[in-house]
Amino acid sequence: MKTTGNTILVAGGTSGIGLALALRFHEAGNKVIVAGRRRDLLDEIVAGHDGIEGEVLDVTDQASITQLFQTVTAKHPELNAIIAMAGIMVPEKVLDPSSLEVTERTVATNLLGPIRLIHTFAPFLVEQPDAAILTVTSGLAYVPLPFTPTYSATKAAIHSYTESLREQLRDTSAQVIEIAPPLTRTTLMGSGTDNEQAMPLDEFISETMSLLGTQPDAEQILVERVKRQRFAEATGTYDEVFAMQAGR
Ligand SMILES: NC(=O)c1ccc[n+]([C@@H]2O[C@H](COP(=O)([O-])OP(=O)(O)OC[C@H]3O[C@@H](n4cnc5c(N)ncnc54)[C@H](OP(=O)(O)O)[C@@H]3O)[C@@H](O)[C@H]2O)c1
Repeated sequence: MKTTGNTILVAGGTSGIGLALALRFHEAGNKVIVAGRRRDLLDEIVAGHDGIEGEVLDVTDQASITQLFQTVTAKHPELNAIIAMAGIMVPEKVLDPSSLEVTERTVATNLLGPIRLIHTFAPFLVEQPDAAILTVTSGLAYVPLPFTPTYSATKAAIHSYTESLREQLRDTSAQVIEIAPPLTRTTLMGSGTDNEQAMPLDEFISETMSLLGTQPDAEQILVERVKRQRFAEATGTYDEVFAMQAGR
């Protein structure tokens, strides 16, 4: 994709990777709209960054996605890119009945959310020049984390969905790109941003922007730190990486 001159919607851009990417795209000369549930954060982002716009969005609610589509395309008929960033990661225990609610929320947010967004926006985007649809998976799409079975499964599913989506849109203007982050320092799982094992957010964003710029036709954006998981199966290290993630 081109890295400047886009109008980009970051669906799940109120914090973490989505916000950091939104700010970099903004600095790089793109019109950026961030969306998410937390209105206080949207207000803060808009107040702090001239030109960035904020819209309320809950990806678990199709009416909210439809409303966002109508608002954003009316304000920005030149919209040409969306990043389906919204996601949650909550630990689950299969033997704990209360985990069922977590699994359903995770599927609604991480799997159905991006699918609904793409169904809503893709027919519009394919009519735009230089369109791009970016999905967000994880290293855990390739080797699951047993602590978060449904989270890992939704990311594997989005990888699969992205492959089919790219094929279906092959003859259109829309490029389909999967970003697969490694463990990155955000508050995704309610943790602090000081996890030494996680990639610093700024480093992840810099490497990602550099890959987007230097590999404009890339189907996947893979920073060095995620390659161990991404290629575990191919390199015969799957069992080793899985055991490590299982804490064995
Ligand atoms: N950090 C990592 O280690 C890591 C690794 C691999 C992949 N990822 C993926 O990267 C993406 C961003 O995660 P992050 O680490 O940056 O965590 P984060 O700071 O918690 O960001 C999650 C974003 O998703 C939004 N979101 C969650 N539920 C939503 C909903 N129902 N509707 C609309 N927006 C929703 C949140 O906004 P609101 O709360 O305001 O709605 C927030 O902007 C996720 O898809 C995550 O799975 C992260």
